[in-house]
Amino acid sequence: MALTDFVLPFLHRLDPERAHWLTVRALASGLGPRMLADPDPCLTSQVFGLTFPSPIGLAAGFDKDAEAVRACLALGFGFVEIGTVTPRAQAGNPKPRLFRLTQDRAVINRMGFNNAGAERAENRLANARMRPLSGPVGVNIGKNKDSDDAAADYAACTTRLAPYADYLTINVSSPNTPGLRALQSPDQLRVLVTAVKDAAAAIGAVPPILIKIAPDLEEADLRAIALVAQDPDVAGLIISNTTITRPDTLRDPQKGQIGGLSGAPLFERSTEVLRRVYALTEGNVPLIGVGGVASAEDAYAKIRAGASLIQLYSALVYTGPGLVGRITQALPDLLRADGFTMLSQAVGADSRD
Ligand SMILES: Cc1cc2nc3c(=O)[nH]c(=O)nc-3n(C[C@H](O)[C@H](O)[C@H](O)COP(=O)(O)O)c2cc1C
Repeated sequence: MALTDFVLPFLHRLDPERAHWLTVRALASGLGPRMLADPDPCLTSQVFGLTFPSPIGLAAGFDKDAEAVRACLALGFGFVEIGTVTPRAQAGNPKPRLFRLTQDRAVINRMGFNNAGAERAENRLANARMRPLSGPVGVNIGKNKDSDDAAADYAACTTRLAPYADYLTINVSSPNTPGLRALQSPDQLRVLVTAVKDAAAAIGAVPPILIKIAPDLEEADLRAIALVAQDPDVAGLIISNTTITRPDTLRDPQKGQIGGLSGAPLFERSTEVLRRVYALTEGNVPLIGVGGVASAEDAYAKIRAGASLIQLYSALVYTGPGLVGRITQALPDLLRADGFTMLSQAVGADSRD
């Protein structure tokens, strides 16, 4: 049975983590659907020196261990971000740690960087890259929970994974690793960026380096990060990770679970932060918009707010993989309706109105 939207009711009867595990297994075994039509050429863009056939990417956390890179691209994603990968394998937090908030079209997770470690990811990426891939593959890196030298951890991941990464994401925004988000301070960020750049340069493979930030930052933090983002060693920002806040609108009984909230209730806040950072950086820093995207209209709103690229994850839980093709097909009409012939013309359009 192919993994299509029809499988969703079955998956929703399972524990969320088991459903996710089965989905990744199915994809890794070649049971995923394939989007047949190529994206409209108006969606092609060049961002931080890479060519993206479509701006719609798979966010980090879905394929943490690079088990199904090709199958995820075949779903119609223009790019895929694997990870978060830490230097050593770690189990993550005790289960249950993943919760569906069905009434809110949201997810809460406190996975805690469960992953098989950098060596396994390296082997799998090397394997996936034996043949050309249809879009860029980013590698999202983090630190082990029990490590007290964050810079050394990010550098260790870089040494192993930079040769297989079209871009690297320094993840300092997961709420589920104690102390991680404190690394979003400008001084700490500069230390991490330098550590990653130096580790990559030492092996002669310096991919674009991105920083992924939380949606819970205050204006002063955003100003500081906007300055760091203009450092020539930083290629762009990913805005945003999950939120530790709980909007008043939440109705699902699971809303009190500890962890990061994603999906529809994150859309507004993550888009607001994106818009603010686009303004603070005067459109000079490429931004990836992520948080609550569940339709072509959502994706387009983030593009107009300043995103050059989009990522999504939680909406797949509620809508299934057919969503990727539907967004990719509908986006060109939204662009044309506003008089744009290329995606890049729409980036940040709201701030020019
Ligand atoms: C189950 C789950 C696991 C995640 N794991 C990671 C992770 O390991 N690293 C990371 O940077 N983001 C992780 N994220 C955050 C997503 O990449 C994304 O930033 C967030 O979910 C907002 O997008 P969405 O509303 O489309 O899901 C995870 C999200 C979910 C739901």
